Amino acid sequence: MLVVNNVSKDFGDFCVLKNINLEFVNGVYGLLGPNGAGKTTLIKMLTTLIFPTNGEILYNGTDIVKLEEKYRDILGYLPQEFGYYKSYSPRQYLLYISALKGMDHSKAKDKVGELLKLVGLENVENKKMRKFSGGMIQRVGIAQAMLNDPKILILDEPTAGLDPKERVRFRNLLSELSRDRIVILSTHIVSDVESIANEIIMIKDKKVLYKDNIRSICKIIQGYVYETEIEFDHAQGFRKQYLSLSEKQENGKLVVRFICEESIGNESTRDNWRAVSANLEDVFLYVYQDEPLVQES
Ligand SMILES: Nc1ncnc2c1ncn2[C@@H]1O[C@H](COP(=O)(O)OP(=O)(O)O)[C@@H](O)[C@H]1O
Ligand SMILES: [Mg+2]
Repeated sequence: MLVVNNVSKDFGDFCVLKNINLEFVNGVYGLLGPNGAGKTTLIKMLTTLIFPTNGEILYNGTDIVKLEEKYRDILGYLPQEFGYYKSYSPRQYLLYISALKGMDHSKAKDKVGELLKLVGLENVENKKMRKFSGGMIQRVGIAQAMLNDPKILILDEPTAGLDPKERVRFRNLLSELSRDRIVILSTHIVSDVESIANEIIMIKDKKVLYKDNIRSICKIIQGYVYETEIEFDHAQGFRKQYLSLSEKQENGKLVVRFICEESIGNESTRDNWRAVSANLEDVFLYVYQDEPLVQES
């Protein structure tokens, strides 16, 4: 079990994370927050690349900094900026990394072959990575993180830059990898974690706002989410009154999905409101409504 114990991180006078407490057991955890929330900072502490200003991170009761090599042996990590060598093939690259990790050569050869198959790159294993798509590079990155069959796999924004098909592939790969290990992945794209994460960790204002399964997190705004059709002329006023989650044009009207927290209101306006069930994207928009959003799709 991995435990984050009252961890804070400052860069000089600038506090990024404050009193973070988290527990990870086997399963997939989605670390969610807009850009700048502190996801990478937390991940770098979990991988001992940087150290907490206060607090400690324990693996099975021992501080990960003290575990040193022993901890790195059970850790797999895909950084947000994954540096690879364009003139290498995936096979060459993975063999190179395994040599750096001090793996036995014949063992490494077997493992690399196995991983190339797992991430679906066996057909291009000897092709230079120069012409690879974002998704293919990402799969090489996941393969290098898996070389030591890690008990803890940490992926920082692994789906950034993937096309929709590559995303589906990534999700399937991840559910395969998540058996018997802790998988932590950060993202600012809700749809990437909605179907794979057992638990969502939302960071806001330097703190963990929620850590729960998706169903429980959605309960936060359950009963407040509606859809209705409004005239285009009324859109501006409507947006001032309610938090608009999504809008689309249909038959000359605007179909709005929105949040209304008050139960009182003008009964006749509510006639056309349909209560709908909340999803994680709704919660994300609600939670971070006051922050400058950088939501990609
Ligand atoms: N080494 C550093 N020195 C100073 N500020 C930093 C450093 N690393 C990150 N930050 C700041 O910490 C905040 C959180 O950054 P980061 O953890 O990268 O967020 P995220 O990964 O959620 O986008 C940002 O405001 C960023 O500018
Ligand atoms: Mg980041």
